[in-house]
Amino acid sequence: MIFNAVLDNTTDAIVCVDRHKKITIFNEKAVKLLGIEWEEAIGKNLSEVIKNCGICRVMETGEKEIGELFEENGKFFRVNRYPVKEAGEILGAVSFFRDVTDFKIMSNKLEEDEIYINIVNTLLNTFNEWMVVVDEDAKIVMMSKGYKEFIGDLNPEGKYVWDVIENTRMDIVLKTGEKEFGDIQQIGDNKMIAMRMPLKKDGKIYGAIGKVVLKDISELDFLNKKLNVLEKEVEYYKSELGKERTAKYSFDNIAGISRKINDVKRIAQRATKTNSNVLITGESGTGKELFAHAIHSDSDRRLGPFVKINCAAIPAELLESELFGYEEGAFTGARKGGKRGKFLLADKGTIFLDEIGDMPLKMQAKLLRVIQEKEIESVGGNKIHELDVRVIAATNRDIEKMVDEGTFREDLYYRLNVVRLRLPSLRERKEDIEIIAKNLMKKVETRLGVHVEGISAEALKHLVAYDWPGNARELENIIERALNMLESDLLIRPEHFPQKLLAQNARTYACPDGQLKEILADIEKEIIKKTLIEHEGNKNKAARILGISRTCLYAKIERYRLERYLQQ
Ligand SMILES: Nc1ncnc2c1ncn2[C@@H]1O[C@H](COP(=O)(O)OP(=O)(O)OP(=O)(O)O)[C@@H](O)[C@H]1O
Ligand SMILES: [Mg+2]
Repeated sequence: MIFNAVLDNTTDAIVCVDRHKKITIFNEKAVKLLGIEWEEAIGKNLSEVIKNCGICRVMETGEKEIGELFEENGKFFRVNRYPVKEAGEILGAVSFFRDVTDFKIMSNKLEEDEIYINIVNTLLNTFNEWMVVVDEDAKIVMMSKGYKEFIGDLNPEGKYVWDVIENTRMDIVLKTGEKEFGDIQQIGDNKMIAMRMPLKKDGKIYGAIGKVVLKDISELDFLNKKLNVLEKEVEYYKSELGKERTAKYSFDNIAGISRKINDVKRIAQRATKTNSNVLITGESGTGKELFAHAIHSDSDRRLGPFVKINCAAIPAELLESELFGYEEGAFTGARKGGKRGKFLLADKGTIFLDEIGDMPLKMQAKLLRVIQEKEIESVGGNKIHELDVRVIAATNRDIEKMVDEGTFREDLYYRLNVVRLRLPSLRERKEDIEIIAKNLMKKVETRLGVHVEGISAEALKHLVAYDWPGNARELENIIERALNMLESDLLIRPEHFPQKLLAQNARTYACPDGQLKEILADIEKEIIKKTLIEHEGNKNKAARILGISRTCLYAKIERYRLERYLQQ
């Protein structure tokens, strides 16, 4: 009895076998730990009850086994096994074991933590991070190797942080619980930028971490200067690129369904396949520049530069150096390093000579030489540069007449006029007005950042009736103006158009049916209405513009019931 009570009250599980490996003792702990009932164990052969049990081995070898670990049912056991011997004969064996699963888990975790700490240390040291960790009393818990070496204390752990790091604020962060970033900290001669963070759990501060973000501010100074230089370079290249060095439009931007515009488009598209010079003529605002861009961006030269020069906008005496550049010291006031001319900038690309009709005769001669020889010699230089440039020239002047009159060189004219694009005016292709207007509306919408639904049928009638001396450019201006006048309205209506457009249309009221008197009254009403709208209902201004007295205007306003257009 007493023996049994002792067996059942030990902390270890005990299993005993006799010389035939039959189980003779199987205490209560063994029942509990192994999950095997006493009745199913006692008197049975050990191998039937516990698989691969080490007791059998001990019986065979006669050697005790101490402190072994084995796993059963997902649990870990620490076991001691002893053979029972008498006079050298093995009479049986006994095994004591206990559940160490919790310890095993803990030790696994410790192992993991150790690996983790190892990784952090390796990271800090490899990247030479300067970092320090303190506990709630501001005592150093950890410091990276690089920081220790810089401070000159290889064993700072356990010391107060202020005894180790000059000008530290870690103790302050521990008190405030607020992180600090970008603080300049001086250690010796070194000015550094530091960052400090409190370590908190459940709102309680249990330590702080400090890191040197920038070890030497002069490094920052250096980086800053370098950044400045790079920024300036980017700015320079951007502005150089911005100088029309790339083509902005393609054929998709040229709207129109008329036969006239499509004929020109076809010729232009054919010209993209060759290197021939192109001469574009047409009234102001007909899209000459648009075509020049489109030809370049559809040609094999599209990756090369597109360089535009407006021959009318540059003073004659500067034109030569703009076009051909000059060498350093070419003349007094010449820029150091010289200047690359537009022709050289356009090498392997396209040069667009806008307003060529305004080029002085002297320059025409030089241009002719460059086009013929395909090489340039810069002003004041003796270097010859070979050129591979396609020339597209444009003018709104009657160039043939200029040739006749001798103001434009005939030989240059023939050199330029290899492919000829004659752009039709808008009034020659009224069927395009709607589509161009809608196109321009989209363009202006994006530019102004506004939204508009469309153009009313009546407004469109006015656009078609007008004779467009300024062509597409004028149309663009009128659309932009209308968009600016829209208020809650999302539709462009006639009242958003300028007086001159409506007045002209009123004049071309096109033989309607009806009495002349009625027609005139209609026109008069329309004109007074528009004038009032245009001048925000100001009676005095409207009367002055229409050249009638205020009383006369007022009488007409009453007759046509236009009071609502008067200033409130
Ligand atoms: N067919 C078209 N479709 C859409 N927009 C057009 C069309 N033609 C011209 N435009 C627009 O009209 C404006 C004037 O065009 P561009 O500058 O090419 O005319 P231009 O013939 O060079 O005029 P100028 O002789 O006055 O310099 C531009 O904003 C252009 O986008
Ligand atoms: Mg132009």
